[in-house]
Amino acid sequence: MNNASRPRNFYYLLHPRPVVVIITLCEGGKVNAMPASWITPISEEPPALAVAIDRENYTFKCIEQLREATFNIPSQEHVNTVYGLGTVSGREVDKVKMFSLKLGKASKVSAPIWLDAIGWIEGRVVNRVDIGETALYIFEVLDYYAKPDTVSEWGWRLDKTSPLHHGTGRGFHTVGKLILASKPKQ
Ligand SMILES: Cc1cc2nc3c(=O)[nH]c(=O)nc-3n(C[C@H](O)[C@H](O)[C@H](O)COP(=O)(O)O)c2cc1C
Repeated sequence: MNNASRPRNFYYLLHPRPVVVIITLCEGGKVNAMPASWITPISEEPPALAVAIDRENYTFKCIEQLREATFNIPSQEHVNTVYGLGTVSGREVDKVKMFSLKLGKASKVSAPIWLDAIGWIEGRVVNRVDIGETALYIFEVLDYYAKPDTVSEWGWRLDKTSPLHHGTGRGFHTVGKLILASKPKQ
């Protein structure tokens, strides 16, 4: 197209998108946390999601070991923690200590949950496809829950909470207002 502008990369056109904090249990019982925005639901029955993880990340190593993780949904107020967690590696630092993450027990997996999150998904790896530098993991969802009164039949209640979305780099977004489409006439 003649007058089109080209963003720096194709995926800019697919952001902002919800970001999660993936918590894994690693060698020697070390807990690690990394933000990920390349994540999507892929099936309702069985409940499953896909997430792309760079194979250089410490999280990749941890997932390979235990094959489970928790996906912790941050809100707008967690923006600095979420960004910070993505700037250092668990290979070099203890992120739980560094970011004072409060952890709790998950119900179905041994990796813990981040208690300050507004929603949680627990999952177990059922498949992996390598593409370029990343591993695309398919996780079966074993359990999921949210903070009380934060979800309705339309998803997150934006009057109660504000799930964080990732633009690119240091750029994040909040979700706008709920708009309901009219029902199609039969
Ligand atoms: C908001 C945000 C989203 C990110 N999304 C992803 C992602 O989807 N997949 C990925 O491999 N890395 C992603 N990253 C980069 C990792 O979080 C980053 O490389 C992190 O330091 C890896 O930590 P680890 O080595 O402790 O696993 C993201 C970073 C940020 C700040």
